[in-house]
Amino acid sequence: PRVAVVFGGRSSEHGISCVTAGSVLAAIDRDAYDVVPVGIATDGRWVLEADEPSRLAIRGSELPVVDADRSPVALMGATTGTDLVVTEPSSVPSVIGEVDVVFPLLHGPWGEDGTLQGMLEMAAVRYVGSGVLASAIGMDKAYMKVVLQAAGLPVTPGIVVTRSELAQDPVGVRTRVEDLGFPSFVKPARAGSSMGISKVHDASEITEALEEAFRHDPKVLVEQSMEGAREVECGVLGTIEGPAETSRPGEVRTGGDHEFYDFEAKYLADQHTEIDIPADLPAGTEQELRAMAVRAFEALSCEGLARVDFFVMPDGALVINELNTMPGFTPTSMYPRCGRRPGCRTPSSSTGCCSSRST
Ligand code: DAL
Ligand code: MG
Repeated sequence: PRVAVVFGGRSSEHGISCVTAGSVLAAIDRDAYDVVPVGIATDGRWVLEADEPSRLAIRGSELPVVDADRSPVALMGATTGTDLVVTEPSSVPSVIGEVDVVFPLLHGPWGEDGTLQGMLEMAAVRYVGSGVLASAIGMDKAYMKVVLQAAGLPVTPGIVVTRSELAQDPVGVRTRVEDLGFPSFVKPARAGSSMGISKVHDASEITEALEEAFRHDPKVLVEQSMEGAREVECGVLGTIEGPAETSRPGEVRTGGDHEFYDFEAKYLADQHTEIDIPADLPAGTEQELRAMAVRAFEALSCEGLARVDFFVMPDGALVINELNTMPGFTPTSMYPRCGRRPGCRTPSSSTGCCSSRST
C-alpha cells in the first residue's frame, strides 16, 4: 500500500510532529509500504517533503521544521488572504491522489483535532487514527473532562476560564481559581507537549500563568495538582477486528530542575527524565489502569491509537490526566517505547490500526 505520512502543521507542536514523522519514516516497513512524506508548513502550505528521517531529528534544542519555500513540489495552501490555491494541479493526482491511506502524524490544533480528519472524510480518503469527533474531543481538555466524567471515569477537578471571562470579571476568575486550591496547573485547553502550562503555587502566580496559557488559547483549564501522584501512561491500539489492546504502562519520573513533565523534560536529552517500562505497579493496579485506558478510549469513540495519561495517587487510586489521539513518536515518547516491549504490538508492525471510516 501507498501511505502519505503527513507532518508539521500549523500548531505550536509543529516541530514535535516533524520529529514524530522522522521516527515513523525510519521505522516503517518499506517492503510493505510505499511512503509519500507530506509536510505542512507553519503557514498552512502543503508540500512534498524529502524522505529523509535524519533531517527530522532534534539537534540540541533545535527542532526541525517544514520549509515550504525549499520544497520543489507545492501541493496546496492559501497564498494570499483566504484564497485556497492548489498550486500545481497537474502534480497532485500523481503525488497525492493515489495513496491508499493517510497517516496524519500531526499534533495539536489543525491536525489532531478533527479538522484534517474531516477534510479526509469529505474526500473519502482512508486515514489512520481517530475520526472527527474523537479527535475534536481529545484536543479540548475541557470537553475531554466532561466526556470522561460522564463515562464514570475519574478526572482531576478543574475549571474553565476564557479570556473574555477574565476581561469581564477578573475578581470572579481569581476567586474561582483560589477556591480550587493550590498548587494548581494552568493549561491552554487546546494545546499539547506541555506548551503554555504553568504550575501555580499561590495567588500571586495566577495572573502570569493565565497570560502564558492565553498566549496559546483563549480557553484555559485550571486543574488541581495531584500532589504526590506518579505519572503513568498507557498505549492503546484499537484494531478494526476486535477490542482495543493496551501496552504495558510506562512511568515518567521527572527530575533535575523540572517541577513537572514540561516541554524540556519531555523532549530534550540531558533533562534527567527517567522512563520505566513497564511501570513498577502492583498487578491489580496495572490491570485496572489498562482496563480504564480502554474505557477512556471508548468513551471518546477513539479509533486506531491513543495514549492515556494517568496519575497514580499515593493510595493507589487512579485519575485520568488526559488522552492523546495522536501521541508523539519521538525517541523519548512513551507510546512507541511502550509498544516495543514484549507483549505489545507497535502500530508500525500492525495494519490493524487503520481507520476505514470512509469506506
Ligand atoms: N502531544 C504530544 C505529542 C504527546 O502527547 O505525545
Ligand atoms: Mg496532550
